[in-house]
Amino acid sequence: MFPLPPLPYGYDSLAPTLGDTTLHIHHDKHHARYVTVLNEILAKSGEKPETLEAVILQASAAGDKKSFNNAGQAWNHGFFWESMTPAYEAPSGELLAAIETAFGDLETLKAKFVAEGVGHFGSGWVWLLAKDGVLSVASTHDGITALETGATPLLVCDLWEHAYYLDYKNDREGFLKVWFDKLVNWPFVAKQLAGEAWTYPAPTYA
Ligand code: FE2
Repeated sequence: MFPLPPLPYGYDSLAPTLGDTTLHIHHDKHHARYVTVLNEILAKSGEKPETLEAVILQASAAGDKKSFNNAGQAWNHGFFWESMTPAYEAPSGELLAAIETAFGDLETLKAKFVAEGVGHFGSGWVWLLAKDGVLSVASTHDGITALETGATPLLVCDLWEHAYYLDYKNDREGFLKVWFDKLVNWPFVAKQLAGEAWTYPAPTYA
């Protein structure tokens, strides 16, 4: 059984950018549901995979959409919670240098990240990625993870309406702008860039 990892901060600690109710529903209902469905699929098949990353890559290769969507959404949400922090610190050091090389400055990265998210039709995710040390912005649809792109995910923001509707209604752009300025966990991003890749918590089996 894959666990539902607890939020790495309090439900009320990202307010007012993201409210307590949003985080409760998003984590306790949406993320929880993806984990539950995935565990039901695995229990039925009798499979006991060792990592969620392996489930995603295997389901993707096999064209198993139900497993893939639920495993991908479980992983993306785990990575999304870690992508935010109540104790904002601006990027620095090698990360800032990589941002400046790729985009010129942090404001330009923000503009690209927000534009990618706003321009993404429907549900999905907007990512900051690294490939061979070069940073880029991209989005994926529905439950697709950046893991399959061959690039290293550094940061993600959830573009599904459940991520922001209670706090921002239909204003995805307003949400993304404030999110980028207030909540990005740059020390986490720096760790991903340095090769300390985050992985989903391991499953336990009876
Ligand atoms: Fe979500």
